Amino acid sequence: MKKVRKAVIPVAGLGTRFLPATKAMPKEMLTVVDRPVVQYAVDEALEAGIEHIVFVTGRNKHVIEDYFDIQPELLDTLTRAGKNEQLASLGRLQPMPGTISFTRQQAPHGLGHAVWCARDIIGDEPFALLLPDMVSYGDKGCLSGVMELYRQTGGNVIAVEQCDPRETASYGIVGKGARTGSGFTITSMVEKPAPEAAPSNHYINGRYVLQPDIFDILDTQERGAGNEIQLTDAMVRLAQRQQFFAAPFEGRMFDCGSKDGFIQANVAFALARDDIRDTVLEPIEEMLVSRRRLSQAA
Ligand code: UTP
Repeated sequence: MKKVRKAVIPVAGLGTRFLPATKAMPKEMLTVVDRPVVQYAVDEALEAGIEHIVFVTGRNKHVIEDYFDIQPELLDTLTRAGKNEQLASLGRLQPMPGTISFTRQQAPHGLGHAVWCARDIIGDEPFALLLPDMVSYGDKGCLSGVMELYRQTGGNVIAVEQCDPRETASYGIVGKGARTGSGFTITSMVEKPAPEAAPSNHYINGRYVLQPDIFDILDTQERGAGNEIQLTDAMVRLAQRQQFFAAPFEGRMFDCGSKDGFIQANVAFALARDDIRDTVLEPIEEMLVSRRRLSQAA
């Protein structure tokens, strides 16, 4: 079994659900507390043992490349001002030279197409895929569980969570087979099924380990839903000849590509931080009390 060394993080989407903010700023740079969303994905990948990250970027995304670069003026200013704590924290976030690559998706033709754009850099080895707008919250990052199951099973592994069975039409849903290692065997994959047609309520939450054979399939993948080249369509084809396993995530994934998920993530991460928990929580509690009073009076 080949080791998973590289991760693909696609950041070339238009972020239309977050307009107007994303008109001039990539959604991957929106901040949850004080870190851009994409930083959480990088931290999660490194925690899971990933050695090299491949960003698939697009037009108007250069700020993401700048974010992962050194800024000499900023470092000089912080040094002169004696802001050692900030300097150290920037240093900790700085990727080692040579451990990140950028490739470009010239137009946002869909997630499947974005992944295909990384094929030459990934080469002939299994790789992790993290959708950065899905932010992982829990004791351990979601990708660690995916990698653990991959070490037990090989093949292809997808992280899943359970949704309200009435809401399957919002997600990619997998069919649940036999228990396998720390997860289960996937029997089917369906994109956004109606509740009565859904094989389960286990939804694909944005973390994967995939075999490089997915690139051959993406070579010929036709456009699907939304007139985009869909990764799920390619995975369904790959599943005809390779096994797929599901790694249930014990934590919670916040969809920071949506406004409500983004706000929920900010509250959850702020409440987990000792330095700001109380100053965030108190006004929220006051708002909830006055909201309850207003609804009782109405
Ligand atoms: P999403 O479907 O959430 O991103 O893709 P989107 O298309 O930007 O979002 P909306 O629906 O318009 O709001 C998940 C990830 O895949 C990337 C996105 O940047 C995001 O990080 N992506 C998506 C690409 O890189 N290229 C694409 O063509 C589509």
